[in-house]
Amino acid sequence: VRIYVPIDAAALSVGAEAVATAIRRAVEQRGRPVEIIRNGSRGMLWLEPLVEVETSAGRVAYGPVSPADVAGLFEAGFLEGGAHPLGHGPTEELDWLKRQQRLTFARVGLTDPLSVADYRAHGGFKGLEQALAMAPADVVERVRASGLRGRGGAGFPTGIKWKTVLDAVAEQKYIVCNADEGDSGTFADRMLMEGDPFTLIEGMVIAGIAVGATKGFIYLRSEYPHAHRALNRAIARAEHAGLLGASVLGSGRAFQLEVRLGAGAYICGEETSLLESLEGKRAIVRAKPPLPALQGLFGKPTVVNNVLSLASVPWIMVHGAKAYADCGMGRSRGTMPVQLGGNIRRGGLVELAFGISLRTLIEDFGGGTRSGRPLKAVQIGGPLGAYLPDSLLDTPMDYEALAGVQSMLGHAGMVVFDDTADMARQAKFAFAFCAKESCGKCTPCRIGAVRGVETVDRIIAGVERDKNLAVLADLNRLMTDASLCAMGGLTPMPVMSAIRHFPEDFHRPAMAVAAE
Ligand code: NAI
Ligand code: SF4
Repeated sequence: VRIYVPIDAAALSVGAEAVATAIRRAVEQRGRPVEIIRNGSRGMLWLEPLVEVETSAGRVAYGPVSPADVAGLFEAGFLEGGAHPLGHGPTEELDWLKRQQRLTFARVGLTDPLSVADYRAHGGFKGLEQALAMAPADVVERVRASGLRGRGGAGFPTGIKWKTVLDAVAEQKYIVCNADEGDSGTFADRMLMEGDPFTLIEGMVIAGIAVGATKGFIYLRSEYPHAHRALNRAIARAEHAGLLGASVLGSGRAFQLEVRLGAGAYICGEETSLLESLEGKRAIVRAKPPLPALQGLFGKPTVVNNVLSLASVPWIMVHGAKAYADCGMGRSRGTMPVQLGGNIRRGGLVELAFGISLRTLIEDFGGGTRSGRPLKAVQIGGPLGAYLPDSLLDTPMDYEALAGVQSMLGHAGMVVFDDTADMARQAKFAFAFCAKESCGKCTPCRIGAVRGVETVDRIIAGVERDKNLAVLADLNRLMTDASLCAMGGLTPMPVMSAIRHFPEDFHRPAMAVAAE
């Protein structure tokens, strides 16, 4: 019998380790030959720790399980999939999972994340084998034709970025994976790295072979210790299995990979400051041009891609560009792993093709607010993303459609707020966040964010409101137009969306401003 207990950080944070220990003890007492596999999370975070038992009829799910539930589960015969109040029946039949299109996350939660054999048994390495049999330019063309766009947030076509690096002439090129996942409410990169690290590794090796890079770095945020351990172990096993090293799968093509820990600031996720940090310097944004694709790490042509962009590549190589491009709408092709969080009943990870409405994601999958109160706003795309009201939730998940309502998809984090949220305070938070996280290189962001906090404070306190709202609009225009990078350039987005959609919160009876 096999029992799956997640080792994902979200599951661990609600006691998965203690549950695994309790199950192990119970198994020993009963003398049953049971194998406990520590898998990634299935993404149903409200059910974690979600324990699954492999039965003749497939995997059966129980959750959320606490150590105190374990004895009862054994008594109910859960090793045979027996009925129990925490039981949810066959995992694959769960509506939340069944309705998804899991391409990038196909193996997450299903396999043992650190087993090369399990990876191979579930289709692993096939994308790399395919890439090794093709000319590099054809690999790049397949990625371009798939329509894959940068999943970090900016949505730049991945294939075009790779083509720029492929065409650059240099004796050394690099693949850098941006795993600094700093957006509030996002966790897809982490879940993938903890739940299926070989997919990311395979994607990076394919990128290296495609553009002619022999060295890769994963720049991982230091706040992800579980992902760090998983990646290091997976890299060691991938080296042992010949997936990495001087001759990848015996092809004679080299690719080495290492993990570097981030320096703990939001701006480290901006690609040029990430490169500075990777070079051992303080993470200050570089002016573009030159693009990192031409002069990136140590001045060499560098592919800087998000975890999800790279992890989507093996699927595209195996199934073809058309199969990927057949999903989605408009210029948003393929699938997006969406992260539902905040005040939501069923938070977690949902991978679906572009085109699905925000309402379906938040109401059908998410089940509405956790508090049960009316939904007020959803912030999409991290702390620099817009707050959208209920009336805009029928907008489809699509880069262009979201831009059309003055918002952005970003890394697809969706944070729900109920009607107790005060959007003027959220606007102040956007500036305060920018003031704290600004790298300080350019004036609109460094000074503008501080002025923004002061101005919103005055509006909240009822001091010359109309005049200060005009000052705020002017400041936002300046920051949008004149900031050097997205940090200062996008901070106005949440602020202006709050004013646009929730003007009443900026005209409440004057309040004393707390020293926050
Ligand atoms: P950008 O639009 O400047 O660049 C996008 C990417 O395309 C970069 O890698 C750039 O080097 C590349 N590129 C542009 N033109 C190119 C060309 N002609 N050839 C080859 N490559 C080219 O956007 P940026 O500043 O990199 O990212 C901003 C986005 O980051 C925001 O929209 C936000 O959603 C997202 N973000 C994500 C976070 C996360 O935690 N995932 C955190 C903060 C922001
Ligand atoms: Fe640095 Fe802010 Fe300017 Fe970006 S916008 S370069 S974070 S000061």
